Amino acid sequence: MKVCVVGASGKLGRYLVQHCLARGDEVVGVCRAQSVAKLADFGERIEVVPGATNDPEVIRRALEGCDAALVVLVPWGVQGYATGTAQAVLDHAAPEARLVFSCGWHISRDGQDVYSLGFRLLLAVFGRIARLLRYADLDDQVEACRRVFASERRWTVVRGSDLEEGESQGLPLWSRHVQDPLLASNLTRRIDFALFMVEALRDDGLIHEAPAIVGCQTASARAHA
Ligand SMILES: NC(=O)c1ccc[n+]([C@@H]2O[C@H](COP(=O)([O-])OP(=O)(O)OC[C@H]3O[C@@H](n4cnc5c(N)ncnc54)[C@H](OP(=O)(O)O)[C@@H]3O)[C@@H](O)[C@H]2O)c1
Repeated sequence: MKVCVVGASGKLGRYLVQHCLARGDEVVGVCRAQSVAKLADFGERIEVVPGATNDPEVIRRALEGCDAALVVLVPWGVQGYATGTAQAVLDHAAPEARLVFSCGWHISRDGQDVYSLGFRLLLAVFGRIARLLRYADLDDQVEACRRVFASERRWTVVRGSDLEEGESQGLPLWSRHVQDPLLASNLTRRIDFALFMVEALRDDGLIHEAPAIVGCQTASARAHA
């Protein structure tokens, strides 16, 4: 499979590249020009297309001949970066391409997610301050995902819990709604978030799903699996 990793130079992106290479996939990575050096460890094993991930021409070129795309959606800045990234991928991926996007639990596909008061307060305070400082715009990621959900492409939106570093513990478990007790531990290893996204490429059961994930070794996962 030829896979385009959009946002390849970040922490999640580099794990995505690592998992794809381990499976023998051919990888094209897209990242900002100033971040190309972060992919140096992969050497000649991947093709790198430098450029902004919301630049339609960059994405069109990177997606040429790809069977799938793994897309890291980040809400940084206030210029609609995540929305532009999602739209460019939706516009330029091959019609049958498998598309897997990342985001956080705060995205709700059907409005049926029930969030704790603490979570809602954190979102409201962080969201307002981040926007005021022009550091991030959480609504941008919401709009990006709204466009993905509305699309007829073969998409999956993987909603990450809080993340931590560490060795892989295995494939995370998932649920359609964040209030599921299975997810109560709210923690996943970043390397396993990437593993879930890469596995989703070959799991047609996840097409048009927005799984909220949790580490398979967490207390809630062990108790409710
Ligand atoms: N962090 C968490 O606790 C958490 C929790 C749940 C879900 N998630 C989701 O996980 C995914 C990855 O998040 P992460 O926190 O682990 O980040 P990450 O993998 O380190 O990725 C950050 C990405 O943002 C890019 N970036 C940084 N500053 C930017 C800017 N000013 N303009 C444009 N792009 C910029 C980076 O590109 P460069 O390499 O070019 O800097 C990189 O591709 C996201 O979809 C996020 O919503 C994260």
